[in-house]
Amino acid sequence: MYSSSNSKPEGPAATHLGHKIGPGWPETSAQNLGSRRLTMEPPPRYVQAMVNVTNHCNLSCAHCFVFRDGNPNNPANEMKAAPLLEELERLRDRHGIRSMIWMGGEPMLRWRVIKEGLHLFQRNTITTNGTIPLHDFGPDVTYVISLDGPPQVNDSVRGQGVFDKVMLNLSKISEDFQSTVMSQCVLHRQNQHELEELVIALQPTRIEGLTFSFYVPRAGENSNRCWEDNRAREEAIEIVLSLKAKYPGFIWNSTRSLELLRSPICDEVTRHCPLQQTLLPLYMEAGYLSTPFCCYGNDVDCQRCGSWGVFATAAKAGGPWEEKAGH
Ligand SMILES: C[S@@+](CC[C@H](N)C(=O)[O-])C[C@H]1O[C@@H](n2cnc3c(N)ncnc32)[C@H](O)[C@@H]1O
Ligand code: SF4
Ligand code: SF4
Repeated sequence: MYSSSNSKPEGPAATHLGHKIGPGWPETSAQNLGSRRLTMEPPPRYVQAMVNVTNHCNLSCAHCFVFRDGNPNNPANEMKAAPLLEELERLRDRHGIRSMIWMGGEPMLRWRVIKEGLHLFQRNTITTNGTIPLHDFGPDVTYVISLDGPPQVNDSVRGQGVFDKVMLNLSKISEDFQSTVMSQCVLHRQNQHELEELVIALQPTRIEGLTFSFYVPRAGENSNRCWEDNRAREEAIEIVLSLKAKYPGFIWNSTRSLELLRSPICDEVTRHCPLQQTLLPLYMEAGYLSTPFCCYGNDVDCQRCGSWGVFATAAKAGGPWEEKAGH
């Protein structure tokens, strides 16, 4: 997940979140959440939202949370543009949403719908697999291109030939293209050792910066993408920290967000997930939008969550983790 409140390291301050700063974050819990959020009074405030504008995708990535069982992800469920945008406008006004993250499935399969909806929000982020041509939507829009390693590594997750397809697409972006283009790499136990090759490959392209997000497993998952535990994940954190030291302008994870990912402080962050309190996830059902447990769907293991959005938000907004981190 990409948190739109943090597009660059020098992004807006924590107060931008519009939420209580300090030890006031409630515990992560289904009780605070679920579909009730869309009807409860008074309506909870969310500074940002994400919406799956389609459940269709032209890839089938091995790690993808969207297409896990138990999430609303039926490709046949496609709301038409007009009712979808009307609903987004209504939810914006109800919940005070200022930023939208357009996702899917593959959101650029419906780029015309996105184009029509951009004006509804102050800031827009489009997270895309990068295989479909990008459109210049102006300087207030950020594209996040998902790549999960250098060619062979990326393609083992995202499919054969995908890396080259994305590179070709990036090479076609015109010089005067105004939207920000950045990349996100989801790190897991299988791809953590070959990241510098990705950084080197992206540097000559139109990509301005790269964030690493850490794999979010489903509850009880024991696949080869998962680290043994959060302590074992620290090797990957060290790799990102050393890449950040070597490519400081290009790696956009803040040092603080990476430090918060360490064990055991990460438990304190995910126990009071700040993303769950600030971001309204909207998944597409048959003719309406629903909201799952969190942006990663319904069946997630919060304790092992390494979402960039969670830790970047925690790094900017004070919370119960501050005391434990000794700040
Ligand atoms: C679900 S995709 C949807 C948008 C678009 N199709 C794409 O691939 O960017 C959004 C982001 O979530 C990431 N993602 C998918 N499964 C994940 C998981 N289990 N843990 C963490 N991030 C994941 C993807 O790599 C991608 O960067
Ligand atoms: S391209 Fe995006 S939505 Fe499609 S399968 Fe891959 S991660 Fe999931
Ligand atoms: S899985 Fe991650 S983003 Fe979702 S509620 Fe848990 S900690 Fe937050």
